[in-house]
Amino acid sequence: MYSTLITSLDAGILTITVNRPDKLNALNKEVMADLDAVSSDMATNEEIKGVILTGSGTKAFVAGADISEFIDLTRGEGLDLARRGQEIFFKFENSSKPVIAAVNGFALGGGCELAMACHFRIASENAKFGQPEVNLGLIPGYGGTQRLVQLIGKGRTLELLMTGNMIDAQTALQYGLVNHVVTLEELITKARSIMDVILSKAPFAIGKCIAAANAVYDNEKMGYEVELEAFGDCFGTEDKKEGTSAFLEKRKPVFKGN
Ligand code: COA
Repeated sequence: MYSTLITSLDAGILTITVNRPDKLNALNKEVMADLDAVSSDMATNEEIKGVILTGSGTKAFVAGADISEFIDLTRGEGLDLARRGQEIFFKFENSSKPVIAAVNGFALGGGCELAMACHFRIASENAKFGQPEVNLGLIPGYGGTQRLVQLIGKGRTLELLMTGNMIDAQTALQYGLVNHVVTLEELITKARSIMDVILSKAPFAIGKCIAAANAVYDNEKMGYEVELEAFGDCFGTEDKKEGTSAFLEKRKPVFKGN
């Protein structure tokens, strides 16, 4: 049904597995189209009561947007890419059905942003989180600058954004980025057991919990617009060309500030 996602529906729980393990489940155009389609299905399919989102394999949840698609994008195309990404991730965040991210490895860049768009996160011990876009001459563009501040505060966010450093699962737990850390083997079982509790409650009330908690940030929507513009601006720079080429050529970038 989807070319880049494996889905299975069991007892009302839809498990979505992003499935590009050879590219660490990076979000290319096809994955984004599939995530868009599955988020629509989540809204309309009455058999789906809750969703668990994870990545295929044991190494990565999602290692980011697909950098190979960034190379030739202009400022305007970068802005359009971010707008579409933000719109799709808002569909997960605003889902009236609960969505749990089961983070089974690297959650970097767009992967960390996707996990943050879910209602909460459970991590396996080997999970690693980060927003390394600065290594590419970029910034997060799928809501990461906003949701990271919401979840872990401004100081920790700016350290992560500006260093591009990764944090491990225990640090993510300490920061409040994830709710639980379990072994990789226990990850889906843990997510399912929490989801089972949620699904035993009144679905209408669950939807209202989500809507009310999301409404805390309704007055902060401008930040997402600022992020879009800034993401687009980065796409107009030589440093972005250098950063993305360097990643694909497996070398260190040399940034010049233009
Ligand atoms: N986009 C495109 N391809 C990606 C990718 C991404 N975000 N992340 C990983 N890949 C690809 C690699 O290019 C490699 O492909 P290849 O085998 O054809 O060369 C494959 O996935 C495996 O990754 P590799 O880098 O060899 O694994 P590693 O264990 O050495 O390193 C990471 C793992 C996650 C540290 C490293 O892949 C990485 O830094 N990825 C990019 C993270 C990032 O910057 N994300 C933000 C993007 S906006």
